[in-house]
Amino acid sequence: MKILIAFYSKTGNTKAVAEAIFNALQEEDKVLAPIKEIEDIDDFALIFCGFPVYAHSVPVPVHGFLKKIKGNQKLALFSTHGARTEGRMQKEAIEHAIGLAKNAELLGYFTCRGQVEQAVLDNLMTKPEHRAWAMEAASAHAHPDKADLEDAQVFARGVLKKALKFKEFNKK
Ligand SMILES: Cc1cc2nc3c(=O)[nH]c(=O)nc-3n(C[C@H](O)[C@H](O)[C@H](O)COP(=O)(O)O)c2cc1C
Repeated sequence: MKILIAFYSKTGNTKAVAEAIFNALQEEDKVLAPIKEIEDIDDFALIFCGFPVYAHSVPVPVHGFLKKIKGNQKLALFSTHGARTEGRMQKEAIEHAIGLAKNAELLGYFTCRGQVEQAVLDNLMTKPEHRAWAMEAASAHAHPDKADLEDAQVFARGVLKKALKFKEFNKK
């Protein structure tokens, strides 16, 4: 089975999770690449797609990629976000991503916190209406950490196990 681990990442948090996922899938036929470098996804049976949560949602450069995924392809989503993991924000973003990839068969999703750029935090702190959120986002400092990356690897192996249960991947 050919596996693609595609990611969009501006400051490296989502890229770190993508790399952890890539390394977790030992002995698989796999490709790790930023979304903007990927031309053709048709060959891949399983696609992991990762992005940072932007404004409760999916960054625009990821939209087209998700829309391209076909009905015969399995999808696993992952995201990083400044907000606490229990909150609604990253769920909204995952729901949006699922809506964009409406043809794909979703096998699961993973989210963890990611350190927010200082310039973004400084900007938010100047706006009283955003100050509470800025303080929450500041506490994402040092994420993704070792435990986050290990959790991502457990997730990735779980997704692979699920994918391998489909009979189209068991022809050997
Ligand atoms: C423009 C912008 C908007 C963001 N919006 C959110 C948001 O709505 N919710 C959230 O939890 N984090 C938000 N963040 C924080 C990022 O999702 C987080 O820092 C992420 O880990 C960055 O990933 P990257 O290093 O892969 O670019 C935002 C960051 C930026 C730059």
